[in-house]
Amino acid sequence: MFHKSVYMGRRARLKKELGSGIALFPGNVDAAFNYGSNTYSFRQDSNFLYYFGLDHAGFSGVIDVNNDKDIIFGNDVDMDDIIWMGPQPFVSDMAAEVGIENTAPYAQLTSFIKSALKSGQKVHFLPPYRGETIIELAALLDISVSEVKAKASVELIKAVVKQREIKDEHEVAEIEKAMFTAYMMHTTSMKMAQPGMVEQDIAGTIEGIALALGGPVSFPVILSVDGQTLHNHDHHNILKEGRMMVTDAGAETSMHYASDITRTVPVGGKFNTRQAEIYQIVLDANTEVIKASKPGVPYRDMHFLASRVIVNGLKNLGLMKGDTEAAVQAGAHTLFLPHGLGHMMGLDVHDMEGLGEDYVGYNDTIKRSDQFGTAYLRLGKELKPGFVVTDEPGIYFIPALIDQFKAEGKFKDFVNYDKVETYKDFGGIRIEDDLLITEDGCRVLGKPIPKTIGEVEKTMAEPREWIKREGFI
Ligand code: GLY
Repeated sequence: MFHKSVYMGRRARLKKELGSGIALFPGNVDAAFNYGSNTYSFRQDSNFLYYFGLDHAGFSGVIDVNNDKDIIFGNDVDMDDIIWMGPQPFVSDMAAEVGIENTAPYAQLTSFIKSALKSGQKVHFLPPYRGETIIELAALLDISVSEVKAKASVELIKAVVKQREIKDEHEVAEIEKAMFTAYMMHTTSMKMAQPGMVEQDIAGTIEGIALALGGPVSFPVILSVDGQTLHNHDHHNILKEGRMMVTDAGAETSMHYASDITRTVPVGGKFNTRQAEIYQIVLDANTEVIKASKPGVPYRDMHFLASRVIVNGLKNLGLMKGDTEAAVQAGAHTLFLPHGLGHMMGLDVHDMEGLGEDYVGYNDTIKRSDQFGTAYLRLGKELKPGFVVTDEPGIYFIPALIDQFKAEGKFKDFVNYDKVETYKDFGGIRIEDDLLITEDGCRVLGKPIPKTIGEVEKTMAEPREWIKREGFI
């Protein structure tokens, strides 16, 4: 947990931003796995964590702007809890650690909210994403479950985004810790990408690294030689030479700040010519974005910068043709890059996505595109110092998409379909770093994870001793 002054400062700023009303932040409760008392690992709500810091199930926080008062609603443990969970601090002691003097038993939240509503005060809340929270909000606010999401407060959403999108030095330090875990996960994955290994061996090992270093993973591990499937959570393939393996994985710190990194490596550790050619284009797109990202630059422009690098590279290989700018305008690059360049990252791996992507990634002047592929860009607006964003270009050969575009005669002036047909067995390549936008540019966060062809080959030439010992290779 940060020092209490951090949380007090955040709440004070939110009060100033909102001006009036009551902001209600329901914390998360334990979620059942396969029956009530067998639960998933507890994950606190990120907005609750941001303003109240308490990583504990069954609390709700209130920021009463009208009365300049912050309250934690929660119950002290009883003897049954102590028997099963051990002694726990009192709610009032936990609240004091985040600078809150006012606490109350959970049951009093209902009367507090109902009396606020009765006296005509506005109760602001954020869009809920869990069934339990939706039901609770419906009961507290006396509305139907189906009305809850639509009644979320746009003023509160905008105020929270304005605060959370700028990461302070404490948050960046936490993200750097998550980056160290990602370094360990990805270098291990590279070293294990040897012929004969099963993807699951590697996916399980790197998830274990995240847990061992404070984890959990910040999203389910994406790891596959079928990297043309963007979010491939199927890990059954046996690795064979000639294939590229995508690992897209990151971890949370114990305070829940995330990392999100992708590396793609040749099984066996040596790039063949075709792999090196495509890899270098993706790497160039990733590094050109690093060179150009700075405050004031719309990330949408960075997306199109990466797209132009990809089109130029594919033209050099004879896979595309025609005028680069016209190809990107038409959206021809989306055959190979059907997703956005990146997203914000922080307490959530897709930071604040639950508040609504358009509130987080766009604004009054920069609106989301409706073009296929580009519409998936989660962050289009101008960068500011303190933003943490992912830079994750890729090139994918998706047989079904190639067949569809070709059958529809799409982008015939820009795509050499005959040549593209010969890459249908290639898979995909994605390279992803996490960038902190600084006053005059950006900084790649974390200990550098091997990325150039030379660095990847060197790392993969040093398989971990235990892999050999265990007889995997
Ligand atoms: N790296 C996974 C994602 O951005 O969804």
